[in-house]
Amino acid sequence: MRLNQKTAIITGATSGMGKAMAERFVSEGASVILSGRDENRGKDLERNLTQKGGKAFFVAGDISHISVNEALVKAAIHNFGKLDIVVTNAGKLGLGSVTNISVEKWNETICTNLNSVFYLSRFAIPEMQKNGKGVILANSSIAAFKSFPNHAAYCASKAALVALVKEMALDYGPTIRVNTICPGPVNTPMIWDSAKAFAEPDTIVQQTANNTLMKRLGEPEDIASLALFLVSDEASWITGSAYTIDGGILVK
Ligand SMILES: NC(=O)c1ccc[n+]([C@@H]2O[C@H](COP(=O)([O-])OP(=O)(O)OC[C@H]3O[C@@H](n4cnc5c(N)ncnc54)[C@H](OP(=O)(O)O)[C@@H]3O)[C@@H](O)[C@H]2O)c1
Repeated sequence: MRLNQKTAIITGATSGMGKAMAERFVSEGASVILSGRDENRGKDLERNLTQKGGKAFFVAGDISHISVNEALVKAAIHNFGKLDIVVTNAGKLGLGSVTNISVEKWNETICTNLNSVFYLSRFAIPEMQKNGKGVILANSSIAAFKSFPNHAAYCASKAALVALVKEMALDYGPTIRVNTICPGPVNTPMIWDSAKAFAEPDTIVQQTANNTLMKRLGEPEDIASLALFLVSDEASWITGSAYTIDGGILVK
């Protein structure tokens, strides 16, 4: 039980990688605040986890609004008494190039992918400081390092996350460890949305899988394994780092 007695917030817990992380963290003893907009998927996950004896509580809301982030931290303290771990995993693609994305869509994407991390950290850090310890893990992307056509706001927000995390590690160490993970193509609904930017989505996803050195897409559980390690005490000397987890696709 690597997360016994720990309380975590996971954003984007209603789908894909966030859901896999929630299941993994709860199975390792953590009490988890689940965040997402979809009430049905969020409540279903809360029910599944609690029926198995785990501790989980779903809070619905759009994390691009600052008040929702404050509510997540309050829910952690109210339900579980403290806050040890925050995983800022929720993200949005916001497809488009600089000339064809609307200003509204650009702002929504930056707010969801970047501002929300600023907001949630702002409320979470004082609570972690009260415990004298805490961990923040942000889900970025290989898009921080490699460009993808028609992903202007996505690439910009994910690169900014890597820089923000290093800066936060500097400001809040040694009390709080702050890291990012940078996944490659992972088998979640988002990869299919991303493929829509290309003429033949099925072919592009298959080619992408073949382009990895491991010849497959990542599975949400692959990412949950790395996240679990990085938020656990086994990673107590790791801070300010960005971890690529991409089946080797960036090597090419
Ligand atoms: N899939 C990939 O290939 C890939 C690769 C690299 C990085 N990533 C990153 O990994 C993270 C997880 O993505 P995924 O692939 O697991 O995608 P996913 O299955 O589509 O899940 C996205 C999650 O984000 C939540 N979300 C999105 N916008 C939100 C908002 N405004 N407020 C609250 N929650 C919001 C969604 O919840 P609701 O629908 O309930 O709102 C959902 O739980 C994202 O940050 C993504 O950029 C993905």
